Amino acid sequence: MVSKSKIIGREIELLQLKKVMGLNRNILIEGPVGVGKTFLVQQGLLDLKKKFERIDGDTRYTEQKLTGWFDPPIVLKKGYSKDSFIEGPLVTAMRQGKVLFINELNRMPEAVQNILLPAMDERRITMPKLGELEAKPGFCVIATQNPREFTATHALSEALLDRFEMIQLDYQSREQELLILKQEVSSKLKGNVLERLVDLIRATRNHTQIKRGASIRAALAMAKLLEIGLEFEVAALMALPSRIEPISSEEDLRELILNLISLNEFPHLVEKKKN
Ligand SMILES: Nc1ncnc2c1ncn2[C@@H]1O[C@H](COP(=O)(O)OP(=O)(O)OP(=O)(O)O)[C@@H](O)[C@H]1O
Ligand SMILES: [Mg+2]
Repeated sequence: MVSKSKIIGREIELLQLKKVMGLNRNILIEGPVGVGKTFLVQQGLLDLKKKFERIDGDTRYTEQKLTGWFDPPIVLKKGYSKDSFIEGPLVTAMRQGKVLFINELNRMPEAVQNILLPAMDERRITMPKLGELEAKPGFCVIATQNPREFTATHALSEALLDRFEMIQLDYQSREQELLILKQEVSSKLKGNVLERLVDLIRATRNHTQIKRGASIRAALAMAKLLEIGLEFEVAALMALPSRIEPISSEEDLRELILNLISLNEFPHLVEKKKN
């Protein structure tokens, strides 16, 4: 469940999420890696004390896993009935009026996504041998996904998109990112080290050689390394290469990161060197 940390900023998005959830409507939260999509949904569910079933989308997820399946040994004894059916999260959420929270929906195979269609607008699904199931009030789907350019996954079908209200999240402001870090790390870190860290992370998002920059999750990881006493450069070289994606695989990430650190800290020197 959600950590003890409180949500910083995102007041408007949290309010929208809760209001739409109150209408039992389906919501899609879209935004780059690590901007706080999962965190926002968890906070909304917690605030409204909503019961939910969570699924993490992956490319090998199956239709059966989503709805449920018949257990062969029980079928042999009792035949096809409710007793021999092992419920999947969709059926449980519909039957009990819970929220179905699907993290990274666009990583799910299309066939699995399609199962959701009738559940999301007609609020019913038909299951072979069991018949029709109608969703109890309270059932809705909340999903998260990264924008298409960030992942190698398929875009959601038009039919699926048509059943969602959308909330888009972008990176937070410098001040908010600093507050998130201050909430998570001990006060042991001296001086302006957190400011330096936030500026470095934000600079990765505007760099011409970088396709996908680092998020607040990367900043939190680097802060933990600083807390155990690692040097700023060392921590950056450990925390960032796996969390940024260069435009070209030829790029030397190490050099790129060190260069960004000096650019951030000594912009005048770097300018002079160039001349
Ligand atoms: N608004 C916020 N307030 C406080 N902490 C936040 C906030 N947004 C993000 N965080 C912190 O950043 C971490 C990463 O956020 P989260 O896992 O929700 O990102 P995400 O968008 O779901 O990423 P992904 O695309 O990888 O699934 C959280 O665990 C939390 O510690
Ligand atoms: Mg997430």
